[in-house]
Amino acid sequence: MTLTPSLATSLRTHLAGSLRVADAGSRVTLGGWVHRSRNLGGIVFLDLRDRGGLVQVSFGTDWASAEVIAAAAAVGVESVVLVEGTVVERSAETKNAEMGTGEVELRATSLKVLSPAVTPAIPVARGKGEKLPAEELRLRHRYLDLRRPELQAALVLRHRLLQVTRRYLSERGYLELETPILTKPTPEGARDYLVPSRVHPGEFYALPQSPQIYKQLFMVCGFDRYFQIARCFRDEDLRADRQPEFTQIDIEASFIGQEDILALAEGLIGALWKEGGYDAPEHFERMTYADAMERYGSDRPDLRYGLEIRDHSALFRPLEFGITQSALAAGGRVRGIVVPGAASWSRKQVDELEALAKGAGAGGLLRLKRVDGKLDGPIAKFFTPEAEAALALEEGALALFVAAADHVSNPALDRVRQECAQRLGLVREGDRRFLIVYDFPMFDRDPVTGALGAVHHPFTSPKAEDMAAYPDEPHRWRATAYDVVLNGLELGGGSIRTHDAAVQSRMFELLGIGDVAEQERRFGFLLEGLRAGAPPHGGIAFGFDRITMLLSGATSLRDVIAFPKTTAARALFEGAPTLVPAEDLKELHIRPEAG
Ligand code: AMO
Repeated sequence: MTLTPSLATSLRTHLAGSLRVADAGSRVTLGGWVHRSRNLGGIVFLDLRDRGGLVQVSFGTDWASAEVIAAAAAVGVESVVLVEGTVVERSAETKNAEMGTGEVELRATSLKVLSPAVTPAIPVARGKGEKLPAEELRLRHRYLDLRRPELQAALVLRHRLLQVTRRYLSERGYLELETPILTKPTPEGARDYLVPSRVHPGEFYALPQSPQIYKQLFMVCGFDRYFQIARCFRDEDLRADRQPEFTQIDIEASFIGQEDILALAEGLIGALWKEGGYDAPEHFERMTYADAMERYGSDRPDLRYGLEIRDHSALFRPLEFGITQSALAAGGRVRGIVVPGAASWSRKQVDELEALAKGAGAGGLLRLKRVDGKLDGPIAKFFTPEAEAALALEEGALALFVAAADHVSNPALDRVRQECAQRLGLVREGDRRFLIVYDFPMFDRDPVTGALGAVHHPFTSPKAEDMAAYPDEPHRWRATAYDVVLNGLELGGGSIRTHDAAVQSRMFELLGIGDVAEQERRFGFLLEGLRAGAPPHGGIAFGFDRITMLLSGATSLRDVIAFPKTTAARALFEGAPTLVPAEDLKELHIRPEAG
């Protein structure tokens, strides 16, 4: 197989990984990196690697000069070479079924070292079962790490998914429009990265947490359908599924309702999963936010397993047990999960679950099991026959309860549920449970200060019927907001927006920005736009890195981003962030902190 014209160049004729038996007899020139080298005395073997894969190149006395063989023996791994030779079919016993090119080898007659490599800081070639070097080391030497076939494949997949996204949306009339990177703060719940202005002393740009306001303005301008592969910046606590700089598939459309956006989301996700080699259902499961929180304690439940949360408050109410009595008296509930077969878990194992619950904010985790027909555990003695009958705990099962307000028990039971599923091996990797969670609340309340915060963002539209039914109880309003979830991971989220400037202004007021001048200063450019004739509109944004991570089988976003940051938000390869010379700061009108 020869190269597509765009990959054959004046220097090479083929890609290494493309050679097959059909090419036997051809003269070819390859360019690439020396992946491995073996010197067997009379013959030198080099595995040559390029973007297309690997091929074995041999330098033997029957076809190569002594000088060429000596050069092949001397070349270091990861050096860049050009080799020319003839493709030959390998003998049956030397064929390697594990290599795409394993039926052939290149008998080289010439070797040109274009760029000798120093001894690599981390090995690129790895033997079977050989562990990767520590991630910190790999990130420090990213130019070597990115030569690994796994990372190359992940970034090639990333490219393909971008093309599918562009095609899918363009075919449906969505225009790819760009928005600024040096901008004004857009609240998405994280801290902003700020950029000082040299020409305007003391003033700052913010890097966008998302293009939210701009995409709404595009609707005001009449573009009707927009998308962007948008880079977003959020200064927040990092985890494996979060990066400070990440990419969204950002979408907005006019004259639409929630169902239009959700249908588009299902279609786009279906196209992306297809490109990744998997089927996604045509329609995703649906669940209200209230239902998700009640049954799973989370707004992004993993539906691959049950272990649903139940409310046992009624059963506990008559029991003379101080902990549950006081939680119930304070307006809380007693909720819990039943874990079949877990009665055999050791005390230490259950203590570990309690530690997880406490780590998530609960005061403790109450435990009860049924062994040999009898209830067992520290709270068994409080159980009346009626309560025992009502609980109907199966033989061998372990029940775990949290007695608290829902905002405490939800995260704790969610964490415990996930850990129990892991332990029981209920998390089947091949399962894909796509879920749309909808009817999110508009606001949440800070449990300490009582202040309202926007659950999605302030531009989301509250449901008109809730505003009408509870005009003075905004914490009861639901929003026209939705998330797309897969196996416990949030793939994307969006909402129908407020397109009425007066309602938007009221939202700001409820969020503590009551002062009209302050509203205009921070969000005037949106409010002005809304006053200029704004169509009903809404949209969604997907986490593109997360999608690529799932489809490439990676477990960290760092494996699908070419130059990622660590969980400490450092770029180890480039060495960012860095200290800046005092004179540069001075030019930016920034005084370093004293001391
Ligand atoms: P949201 O904040 O929910 O919505 O973000 C949308 C999606 O982006 C992904 N995501 C991240 N991925 C990697 N690292 C991060 N730090 C990170 N933060 C978010 C998630 C998430 O679902 N403007 C709204 C969208 C809209 O209303 O249209 C927004 O940004 O997968």
